[in-house]
Amino acid sequence: MNAVVAFSLRNGDQIPKGIIDLGCGFGSTMLQLLQQFPTSVITGVNIDDEQLKFAQEVLSKAGFSQRASLMHANFQETGLPTHSFDAAYALETSCYDESEYKSAFITEASRLLRPGGKLVVVDGFRKHHRPLTNLVKWCYRKCTDAWAIPSLATIERFETELRKQGFENIEIKDISWNGLPSILHIPFVVSKLFISYLQKTDPVKRHYLQALLWTLAMSPFKSHFGYYIVICTKCNVE
Ligand SMILES: C[S@@+](CC[C@H](N)C(=O)[O-])C[C@H]1O[C@@H](n2cnc3c(N)ncnc32)[C@H](O)[C@@H]1O
Repeated sequence: MNAVVAFSLRNGDQIPKGIIDLGCGFGSTMLQLLQQFPTSVITGVNIDDEQLKFAQEVLSKAGFSQRASLMHANFQETGLPTHSFDAAYALETSCYDESEYKSAFITEASRLLRPGGKLVVVDGFRKHHRPLTNLVKWCYRKCTDAWAIPSLATIERFETELRKQGFENIEIKDISWNGLPSILHIPFVVSKLFISYLQKTDPVKRHYLQALLWTLAMSPFKSHFGYYIVICTKCNVE
């Protein structure tokens, strides 16, 4: 998925100079982008200090200290200057915004981007507003709870919020099939973790195992949920 983000951030041959990763995790996307975009400078924000520490080590070891900066910040309110980035991306993080349509995340992304700047979001979304059956609702809740996700926005309302916050040229693609290799990978990871579980390993692994199993349990409900990429640009006129 890092390669998809890199491809989506380009404008033909042009690569953005100042980029922000809204929820950089362990820094793997930043690492790949810094390798592919030799003139870019990337800021990664995250609320988890352990992950930031790990990302710092990885990026320093790879020799990117000059072009990468990491900071502890909430992507809903980073405190960074307005209009300070040419591009922003959020890989599986916008779903952590507590607001129903992820409006706080979108408002901050809009504030941070220069007019004409690009935003790329890759995440899970609900496909419609229709009520879910009890079984689907139960699996959905179990899965979001396991990943500590407050809720998934519907893709339509997410698009409406983007327009409200001054984004245009909104391109939305359901890339659920791109997630298939990861889904197929789950049984292998689960088997490995299950063996460790039987050997009484740590609770973090046990929790991760449960989250993976709930993700797998969601796969028959493709008519309700999808994995999307959303690419849009900040309007030139505000
Ligand atoms: C599923 S991980 C994805 C990490 C990374 N983007 C990746 O693809 O590897 C979600 C990340 O979002 C971060 N996160 C969640 N809520 C956040 C917030 N309000 N502000 C900044 N980071 C946040 C978590 O700490 C975690 O690193």
